[in-house]
Amino acid sequence: MRITERAHEAVRTAVKEGEEVVDATAGNGHDTVFLAKLVGAGGRVFAFDIQEEALISTRANLEASGVPSNRVSLILESHAGLGDYVINPVAAVMFNLGYLPGGNHQIRTECEETVIGLESAWEVIRAEGILTVACYRGHPGGQEEGRAVLEAAHKLALRGAVMDTHGLAGTDTGPFLVVLRKG
Ligand SMILES: C[S@@+](CC[C@H](N)C(=O)[O-])C[C@H]1O[C@@H](n2cnc3c(N)ncnc32)[C@H](O)[C@@H]1O
Repeated sequence: MRITERAHEAVRTAVKEGEEVVDATAGNGHDTVFLAKLVGAGGRVFAFDIQEEALISTRANLEASGVPSNRVSLILESHAGLGDYVINPVAAVMFNLGYLPGGNHQIRTECEETVIGLESAWEVIRAEGILTVACYRGHPGGQEEGRAVLEAAHKLALRGAVMDTHGLAGTDTGPFLVVLRKG
């Protein structure tokens, strides 16, 4: 199973209809559409990206999927600042790192912002909520970012997060997923 499918599978177990959730890297909107359908009409998705092009693509994907636009807030801002937008506790935060597929590969998630984003995300997740991080290590900076994500995840595990990883065995260039659940 691909790590993105695994992330969806994990998030499905933690989110109830009507809840608020976050897509920390909207990209082309596949995770945003997934989350918007999961939370349903009474729920809300906060979707962050630093590229306007990504938010335009996400909006188009939402429209094509028949998701009402008022269910999703598209925010042109780094996930490092998510605490300024997300006030109520959320059920899930999804990160899908790297660059915008079909976009400029030079514009991608960077270690420092990613780690701040992960820490900010953990602060806003409710009890029994979930954080997923899909990491890609094949592009420049990807391995360094992967190491930083694992280090940040281990720190959260020391603070009580229950941590699972998928895809780490046998390769240091392949994609992997980290799943962190709050007690
Ligand atoms: C792999 S794509 C995300 C794919 C997306 N989740 C989907 O389902 O289509 C990574 C995205 O992260 C965005 N990004 C890079 N740095 C970011 C940051 N600091 N905050 C939010 N988004 C960022 C990129 O612009 C890119 O669109």
